[in-house]
Amino acid sequence: MSTLLVTGGAGFIGSNFVHYVVANTDYDVIVLDKLTYAGNRASLDGLPEARVRLVEGDIADAALVDSLMPEVDAIVHYAAESHNDNSLNDPSPFVTTNVIGTFTLLEAARRHGKRIHHISTDEVYGDLELDDPNRFTEHTPYNPSSPYSSTKAGSDLLVRAWVRSFGVEATISNCSNNYGPRQHVEKFIPRQITNLIDGVHPKLYGAGLNVRDWIHADDHSSAVLTILEKGRIGETYLIGADGEKNNKEVVELILTLMGEAPDSYEHVNDRPGHDLRYAIDSTKLREELGWAPRFSDFESGLKDTIAWYRENEAWWRPQKAETEAKYARSGQ
Ligand code: NAD
Ligand code: DAU
Repeated sequence: MSTLLVTGGAGFIGSNFVHYVVANTDYDVIVLDKLTYAGNRASLDGLPEARVRLVEGDIADAALVDSLMPEVDAIVHYAAESHNDNSLNDPSPFVTTNVIGTFTLLEAARRHGKRIHHISTDEVYGDLELDDPNRFTEHTPYNPSSPYSSTKAGSDLLVRAWVRSFGVEATISNCSNNYGPRQHVEKFIPRQITNLIDGVHPKLYGAGLNVRDWIHADDHSSAVLTILEKGRIGETYLIGADGEKNNKEVVELILTLMGEAPDSYEHVNDRPGHDLRYAIDSTKLREELGWAPRFSDFESGLKDTIAWYRENEAWWRPQKAETEAKYARSGQ
C-alpha cells in the first residue's frame, strides 16, 4: 500500500487519522470530504501538500469515487453524519451518507479490487444497564437505538454482505466515544469546554448518569492502522481503552481543570431514546493483533484537549453560535 483514500478526512476522527498517518507512516493520503457543517479544511492545516490532497466531494457520487480508484491502494472510510441529536431532528442525510455513501464506496472497491476498512461505532450494539458486568464484544447482537446508530448498523451489514457475496477485501471496526483536538463543538466534551470559555455553564442531559467509554482519538488511529495492515479480511474488531465514565464525572473534571466549582453545571432536557451505557471489550484486537492504547490517563488527555480549544478559538468559533442556537430550540 502506498496511497490511502480517507473519506471524511476533514472531520474530527478522520483528520486525526490523517495527521497520525503522516507522522507515523510513509503513506500518502487523498482525503475525500464533502465539507458539510462538520468538515473543516483547517483541520488539515500543517500537513505536507506533497503527501495529502483534499478532494471536495460526496462519497455517494459514484462517478467521482470511481475516478479516484486508480490512484489509491486502500480506502479508509470515516465519512458519516455522526451526531445523534441531529439524527433525531432530521434523519434524511444519515440515510443518504451513511447507507448510500457506504454502498457507493463498496461498489467502487468491488469494481476496482481495492481493500476497504469501514469505521463504525459501538452504538450499533444498543446500550447496557449500569450494573451489567458484560461489555460489548464482536458477538453482541446488533440493537441500535437512534437514526444515527441504525444507519451505521445498516452500513456495517452492507460491508459484511459485500465480503461474503462479492469477495470484497473489507474489515470493520466499532469504536467507543473519542475525545481529542478538532472535535466539533456540538459534541459533549468540546461543547462544555467552549461553553466555559464563553462563561456559560456546562449542560448535562437528564441526570447525567449515562456512561460513555472514552478513548483518545490517537488511540483510535493507531488501532485502525493496525487493523488495516494486519487485520483478517471479513473480520470485525472492537476498539476501546477501558475508559468508562458517567457524564456528570466528565463535566465535574472539565470544570475542575478549568478552575471552576465542580457543581456549576446545569441540567437540561434529556435526549429522546438516550442510550444509557456503552462499554467495549477490546480483547480480540489486543490479543490477535497486539494493539494497546497509549493514552491511559484520561485527566491528562482532557487537559491537553482543553488547552487545544483555548489555543485554537479561530478553528471552533465560527461553529459555536449556530450550534448553541440549535440546542436552545430543543431546550438543551
Ligand atoms: P465528524 O462529523 O466530525 O466528521 C464527519 C466528516 O465526514 C466531516 O468532515 C464531513 O464533512 C464528512 N462527510 C459527511 N458526509 C459526507 C459525504 N456524504 N461525503 C463525504 N464526506 C462527508 O465525525 P467523527 O466524529 O469524526 O466520526 C467519523 C467516523 O467515526 C464516523 O463514521 C463515525 O460514525 C465514527 N465514530 C465516531 C466516534 C466518535 O466518538 N465521534 C466513535 C466511533 C465511531
Ligand atoms: O459511542 C460512539 C459514538 O459516540 C459515536 O458513534 C458518535 O458519532 C459520537 O457522536 C458519540 O455519540 P454520543 O451520543 O455518545 O456522543 P455525544 O458527544 O453527543 O454525547 C456524549 C454523552 O453526553 C451522551 O450521553 C449525551 C451527553 N450530552 C451531550 C451533549 C452534547 C450531555 O449530557 N450534554 C450535552 O450538551
